Amino acid sequence: MDSAESAGGRLGAVLSAPRTGVVALGPRGPWLATTPALAKQVLTDVDHFDFPGNVSRGGDLSGSRGDTRSGHLVFDPLTPVQVARGVATFAELWPEALAAHDRDTPREAYDAMELLRRPVARATCDALLDDASTDQREAVGDAVLAWIDALAPVIAAARAPHRWSRVRRVERDARLRLEAILEHVDGLPGTPQQAATMLAAGIQVPIAAGSWLLAWLGDQPTHDVDPIHAVWETLRLTPPTWITARLTTTDVELDGRLVPSGSVVLVSPLLLGRLPELVPGDPDELGDFDPSRWRDDARRPGAWLPFGAGPHACPGRNLGMAVLVHLAEWAVAHRVRLTQEVKFDQSRGLAPLPCRFRLNAQGGTTR
Ligand code: HEM
Repeated sequence: MDSAESAGGRLGAVLSAPRTGVVALGPRGPWLATTPALAKQVLTDVDHFDFPGNVSRGGDLSGSRGDTRSGHLVFDPLTPVQVARGVATFAELWPEALAAHDRDTPREAYDAMELLRRPVARATCDALLDDASTDQREAVGDAVLAWIDALAPVIAAARAPHRWSRVRRVERDARLRLEAILEHVDGLPGTPQQAATMLAAGIQVPIAAGSWLLAWLGDQPTHDVDPIHAVWETLRLTPPTWITARLTTTDVELDGRLVPSGSVVLVSPLLLGRLPELVPGDPDELGDFDPSRWRDDARRPGAWLPFGAGPHACPGRNLGMAVLVHLAEWAVAHRVRLTQEVKFDQSRGLAPLPCRFRLNAQGGTTR
């Protein structure tokens, strides 16, 4: 398993920045808030820090809902009934996905990013689309996955693709196809555009989080792990939304420094998750996957903000946690084992590249 520390790129730049308050990563920013208090200030002070409008190049979908962020539209958190419905769907479809793999490609290792697509997509659709028929939920799930796939090259491009470029057109067509299906669904969370954004955030991020979970557990197969601790440890070391950005709407004094209006200020849950004041254990070993560190309940898991904070904190947090805990229980019981080295894909959020695994119970090839 590769490590974030050796991954380089933007991730490396953020991790190697001095952790001294607010630091400028370049001559004119972006700025990085490196302490928990400053990170909270940036995410909760909506009078001075706004969401960037352009979502399709923001790094991932979870911070996205179109071009009108300054209205501070917030999504309602999922209800316990919605969460229960989503997890029940995941619990039903995950074994189906494994069985389909065994039937179609029995000799190949499982690929977590592939395998999780349909169970997660349907779980989120079933949770959010209360009034939709099963066929509608299936169609919406497929259309969201197609939009996420079409967004990938737009987000990953080194320079923003032109409005009329092929990748932009493919992405726009995929989004419009999704919105057209949503037009016919009753009881959406918001307009079809808002529902599309929420669904995409609620599908893309849990697929990556679930894959990281399987990657970490597969790297060190053991029965002796608390599934909830394994989930927190995964969200600490590899939070899919590893960085999020806000724009200053006025000149702001942050940690005694003047940050000019219109500056980008970054908050990184991945960086915060490596601060000894937030994480129990030997400060020199905070880059290691060690779920047992959370047996020490002196520190609160989640203080590094893997679900954000403030008015734009994740409304699907409870569903995300419930699905991940279910997956962790399954992975521990089946002793998931990685079959090849995992690298860090930073092209949109953070995802394992690839996460291929086998189950110890199945035998098969060794690494
Ligand atoms: C393990 C799973 C998940 C993780 C780690 C996660 C993480 C996050 C984070 C960090 C943010 C804040 C981004 C920012 O401040 O820029 C966020 C926002 C969001 N998440 Fe999640 N999320 C997860 C699951 C879900 C699910 C299941 C849903 C929907 C059912 C969802 C819907 C959203 C939406 C709509 C936003 C944007 C909120 C806003 O802009 O007001 N997420 N998520």
